Amino acid sequence: MKDSKITEEELKHQDELTDMLRDILYIRAGNKQPKASVRTYGCQQNVADSEKLKGMLEKMGCALTDDYNEADIIIFNTCAVREHAEDRVFGNVGALKALKKKKPSLLIGLCGCMMEQEHIAQKIYKSFPYVGLVFGTHVIHKFPELIYNCVTSGKRLVERGSDDGEIYEGLPLHRDGSFKGWLPIMYGCDNFCTYCIVPHVRGRERSRRPNSVLAEARSMVKAGYKDITLLGQNVNSYGKGLDEETDFASLLQSVADIEGDFWVRFMTSHPKDASKKLIDTIAANDNICNHLHLPFQCGSDRVLKKMNRRYTKEKYLEIANYAKSKIPDLSLTSDVIVGFPGETEEDFEETLELIKEVKFTSLFTFIYSPRVGTPAAKFDDPYTHEDKAKRMGRLLKVQESIAAERCASMVGKTYRVLVEEQAREGVLNARTQNNIVVELNAPTELIGTFQYAEITEARNWILRGKIV
Ligand code: SAH
Ligand code: SF4
Ligand code: F3S
Repeated sequence: MKDSKITEEELKHQDELTDMLRDILYIRAGNKQPKASVRTYGCQQNVADSEKLKGMLEKMGCALTDDYNEADIIIFNTCAVREHAEDRVFGNVGALKALKKKKPSLLIGLCGCMMEQEHIAQKIYKSFPYVGLVFGTHVIHKFPELIYNCVTSGKRLVERGSDDGEIYEGLPLHRDGSFKGWLPIMYGCDNFCTYCIVPHVRGRERSRRPNSVLAEARSMVKAGYKDITLLGQNVNSYGKGLDEETDFASLLQSVADIEGDFWVRFMTSHPKDASKKLIDTIAANDNICNHLHLPFQCGSDRVLKKMNRRYTKEKYLEIANYAKSKIPDLSLTSDVIVGFPGETEEDFEETLELIKEVKFTSLFTFIYSPRVGTPAAKFDDPYTHEDKAKRMGRLLKVQESIAAERCASMVGKTYRVLVEEQAREGVLNARTQNNIVVELNAPTELIGTFQYAEITEARNWILRGKIV
């Protein structure tokens, strides 16, 4: 296999530029510590990339801030998965114009999935002249060099890499959380579902070596992380192309074997590659969360075929039912697309049937959004947005009662929970292993700790509990 790890020389080169930037950015900020904001759109892959960008910015001497008014550098890490995601970015970039006018030295950079699309990068370049830096998902390791070139030349810069993609090892990292953390195990996607832009903007699938993943997992556990999520667009094909024999279930088992009190979870699992071995591994380990995010997208075989998902409703139900039978209290969650081009009433009803049969804890629901350059964008579609929105309403109603039923069935039981954050004065949000939020009356000192909570009340899909 071609080793797509970033080379030592490259890392060293970026380190040297980082050192120089410490002085340059300090002077640019008016002889004080420069401040930087990174705003993330999209999925956990982007969140994980932003943690690297923030790590690099800190190494350049920047303090991180959420307040754009005081920032010297603002970076938007963008998402291209649906039109709505892109529109939000365009709107928010537009709003930065006034800031740039007030502070001409402000460096505005846009990166992430949107920037890997030629037509979008062009549009940004033309329509937003105050954006100084545009870079894609394949070059984030060159971030110091890009900033350096931008500030020393005073010119606007657009940079994108090759579709083969890189494996990011050895980059600085600033994790957003102190007890909940993301751990990318692979990058890219080779599945080419016909509606999806991700393979086009994230490049080919490539896995990190098990040793690198395990070393990072160990260091997270040692640093006190209690909830670690292994990340990939399709974790079930982990290891493909590596010269050592491995698979995702083995990797997951090795992470679970690390000494310490922590939970491990993962996303996303593609149903076509979800193995019984994976389910058995979850069932056999207390610290692997009994939560499986298994996107089905649609319940109709005809549509699944047009989506290039490479499983049938029957195959999906087989693996979902196997998981339910093996893992007590399993929480199954999923993504579903409503209104894929040509989806008929009968197709849609099959989706409803599947939802009723599996009884998902929660669903991420999306109305189909055509993406430039994907095959589905050219498919015939006789249905209007209004038809699709109506179907979505029906789907949400079905799911609402299933979720409420599921929550009600938890009342009176006691669960181990991880206390996560303050919801409001005197109330904390905790999360069960199966990813359900429980509100607790408890002091903030408990944030970041495991507790046992008895569920006392279920209101729709919100649970209330007390610490026992
Ligand atoms: N790799 C993951 C999905 C990543 S994208 C998987 O295969 O499960 C997250 C979700 O966005 C997808 O599961 C899908 O439901 C939704 N999605 C992707 N492209 C979309 C599009 N063009 N329109 C609507 N929803 C889309
Ligand atoms: Fe997109 Fe399909 Fe890849 Fe998921 S598996 S990222 S939906 S192409
Ligand atoms: Fe969006 Fe890119 Fe993730 S398109 S969903 S941020 S991989």
